[in-house]
Amino acid sequence: MSITVTPLSAACGAEISGIDLREPLDASTVKEIEDAFHEHVVVVFRGQDITEEEQMAFANAFGGLGERRRSPNGNTPGGSYDTPFMFVTNIIDEKTGEPIGAFGDGEMWFHHDTSYYEKPHKATLLYSITLPNSGGNTCFANMYKAYENVPADLKAKLEGRKVLQLHDYKRRERIDIYNSDISGMLQYEQPIFVTHPVTRRKALYISRLMSAKIEGLAPDENEAILNQLFDISEDPSVVFEHVWKKGDMVMWDNYASIHMRRDFPRDQPRLMRRLTLGGYGALN
Ligand code: OGA
Ligand code: MN
Repeated sequence: MSITVTPLSAACGAEISGIDLREPLDASTVKEIEDAFHEHVVVVFRGQDITEEEQMAFANAFGGLGERRRSPNGNTPGGSYDTPFMFVTNIIDEKTGEPIGAFGDGEMWFHHDTSYYEKPHKATLLYSITLPNSGGNTCFANMYKAYENVPADLKAKLEGRKVLQLHDYKRRERIDIYNSDISGMLQYEQPIFVTHPVTRRKALYISRLMSAKIEGLAPDENEAILNQLFDISEDPSVVFEHVWKKGDMVMWDNYASIHMRRDFPRDQPRLMRRLTLGGYGALN
């Protein structure tokens, strides 16, 4: 099998065609996909019709699956934890009245997945099953480019510092760490600049949704610098916007990108089936 890789924007993202994800992959195809993934940060496979087993077999070709954890304060969203799959959806179970998955409705701000774990997951694989008639696009920011765009004096000031990554299953609101009890929330202090273990390239590692506090900064300066970094990370020049079609499978590099979801009509179901890949280890 030989795949075709077509870049989708100047920021990041490439479509991989010439592949049927129902079929087992040979070693050279796995290597070609990995190379495209590392180069383009986000890879898109279109027109796929895959079962859970096939999605899992595909994911397993790139490393072990990521572990799912509940937060100590119990705010973890619905859906079963007996499976590595998570549904990303606004669909409510009619019998229980509970969501059948996570991340419900509407816009979701830029974030890394599992930046609040000691060992963040290296990739997320999201497969679209049901889509609203409009909206719900997912935007990906290339954090290698964002790193390059941090002014030199700010880079020098922040080099070697950590940032607290915090998650309480909010979608579009920052946690006010100065006035909340964060003890039961999933959290971890990560380097603010990370080196990708495979590409060895440096990436900015902050996001509007989850980055709360830079080590050693007073509240005012913390907010000012984080806001500056959020703007750099979300600049349209570093962002690729994916418009979903049913049967798309998108796999993103969670060390080198952040992502956000655009709003969509609340009365229309959206259902995505998600797996993650375990990490390379602690970030540095
Ligand atoms: C995720 C996520 C966004 C979307 O699955 O981690 O952020 O567009 N999804 O559903
Ligand atoms: Mn996410």
